[in-house]
Amino acid sequence: MALALGAAPAWSQTAAFPSALAWHERRDVYPQGVASGDPHSDSVLLWTRRPPHEGRAAEKLNVEVAEDEAFQCVVARAEAPVPAASDWTCRVLAGGLKPARVYWYRFTDAEGQGSRIGRTITAPSDNDTRPVRFAFVSCQNANDGAQNAYRRMIYEDQRVREEDRLGFVLHLGDFIYEIVWYPEDRPQGMYDRKIRDIVRYEHGEKIQDFHIPTVVDDYRAIYRSYLQDQDLQDARARWPFVAMWDNHEFSWLGWQSLQKFQGVTRPAQTRKVAANQAFFEYQPARLWQPGGASLDRFHAPDVSDAPVTRFDQHGLGQEPNNLTAIGSLRGYRGLRWGRHVELIVTDQRSYRSEDPTDRPEAKAFSSPDFPEFMPEEALEMMDAGSAANGGRPSSSVRYGSAEVPNFRREQPPQTILGAEQKAWFLEKLRSSKATWKIWGNTVATLDMRADLQNLPPGLTAPWPGAGYAGSPLADYGTAYVERAEIYDFVRAHGITGFATIAGDRHSFWAGLAADTLPPKPFEPVGVAFVTGSISAPGVVEALEYALPKDHPLRALYVGQGPADHRPQPTLNLLLRHGVRSCLEYLRSGDIQKARALSNPGLSPHVAFVDMGGHGYTAVRASGDSFEAEFVCIPRPVERNLGPDGGPLLYRARCQARLWGKGQVPKLLTEILEGDPRFSV
Ligand SMILES: [Fe+2]
Repeated sequence: MALALGAAPAWSQTAAFPSALAWHERRDVYPQGVASGDPHSDSVLLWTRRPPHEGRAAEKLNVEVAEDEAFQCVVARAEAPVPAASDWTCRVLAGGLKPARVYWYRFTDAEGQGSRIGRTITAPSDNDTRPVRFAFVSCQNANDGAQNAYRRMIYEDQRVREEDRLGFVLHLGDFIYEIVWYPEDRPQGMYDRKIRDIVRYEHGEKIQDFHIPTVVDDYRAIYRSYLQDQDLQDARARWPFVAMWDNHEFSWLGWQSLQKFQGVTRPAQTRKVAANQAFFEYQPARLWQPGGASLDRFHAPDVSDAPVTRFDQHGLGQEPNNLTAIGSLRGYRGLRWGRHVELIVTDQRSYRSEDPTDRPEAKAFSSPDFPEFMPEEALEMMDAGSAANGGRPSSSVRYGSAEVPNFRREQPPQTILGAEQKAWFLEKLRSSKATWKIWGNTVATLDMRADLQNLPPGLTAPWPGAGYAGSPLADYGTAYVERAEIYDFVRAHGITGFATIAGDRHSFWAGLAADTLPPKPFEPVGVAFVTGSISAPGVVEALEYALPKDHPLRALYVGQGPADHRPQPTLNLLLRHGVRSCLEYLRSGDIQKARALSNPGLSPHVAFVDMGGHGYTAVRASGDSFEAEFVCIPRPVERNLGPDGGPLLYRARCQARLWGKGQVPKLLTEILEGDPRFSV
């Protein structure tokens, strides 16, 4: 028996029947297409948007779920409301479905005007031992890029055997970029890209040369605009998505309900609620609202933008409007696929404490001589706060010839998850019976490290740090205390099959999850991956423009060997092998010779890194292995109209065999297509 729950009474049927609706497809009436999300083994959420057409609103839509694309075997049907209060979006929970099955769904209004047909897939039942396949993605920017990666994903999925097809797409955030440039704001474009005219905020605020949303209608406007992208819309119509917000669904440098622009933190409780509302309306996801969940609508609490000045020992702002705003929608959740996959999705923005490396005082640890990097000891001090050095933090940290005051010594250590979510997360990890405990984390966990202490004298100013350099990316790469707490928990509880997968960094990474690196002990407890952006520009592209041509350390970032005609992503070589490899490449252009000078103490935790890559990552998780395949495309500067979405740059696969209690995970990297020579 299957049923579909809209707000109207559920309708159920025991046997499949042919559709009796006079559906005729009118994609123009449903301009944002259809979507499905958060599949369970017996249910899935279905979504569409049906705004008034030729002046007529549809109060209700018929939704049908069928076992076939021709809708001859309809298994569930319901009427679902399309409230104006939800910006004419419609959510339906289709239930009573069979596990691990492909279903087709469509919406039809009273006049027979139908949405496009969507395809969705239920999760396998908990005892299903077949491998689970899915893709994870992040960071799509329609303002300055094209979503070719989705076209490639669709193309490949259509051409593999049924059992090798993706079961779902995990979207780890930056589904939208709330910061928008209008073409006239940047006639020079953005790096390699031109600015597209995608949205005009009716109530927007202009800051410097960009615009940000201020009310729910502005946030809705950007989702509407993004979802008119054909490649994204086709992907949402092909697979169920599991979506989690990162920062840009609310605000670029946002944390809790605060925004930060031009170095000034400001309360933005009303905007956080607006961002949550638009996410609720546009992402079919099993989210929790206080006071009982309604699929129909988001219950926006009344909040005001009041200053947040008092924080508890976990960095949580105690101002009541802050607590109400961040509590208006809970995004963290767990989902299960068969015997092998427990997906634990967390929220890295709503409960986190302020990023200490973004404080004005932290600027004392950066220098244009060493772009992107700060000394690890400074990063550790800023992260740990009062917990540094066993609870006896030093009063200052040396940076070159300066003694920089420890501005964090009286504040609690940084948290990204916040206390309540962290407790939930650890309990989820501990109690999971799945082979692979996959942490769907919007921000990356691997250290981005360089051995700037190994620079030869005379090349540039001496490195002001005591040892290795790290990069302040506001993620788990520098949230050492909390990361260690999580990894120590994994170790202490003998949890195997622990994998972190993340986005946000606009780069591909594969490696091992370890709380400390040499010269400290290196004891990995899991595997860790980061996916390249779908389309948002990465740091290599930015550096090609921003790093002065005569910068003395250009060889470490976007260097050129003697035979190269354009800059190469030597930053990858720096992070993987170190400064000596980069300088050798600059001298000889010989990548083998360069790798031979690898510093083994630098990055034993990194198997693969590409700071310039775009595309997606496909995962296969089985009873004995976890494979992540990086599908990397060229910079998506323009939309590619080919059926495959354009060429591939490379395809790289990193595989870990399941390890036992007390054993150390290992990664094996294979390059299947192309030559990411600086990445390995
Ligand atoms: Fe991003």
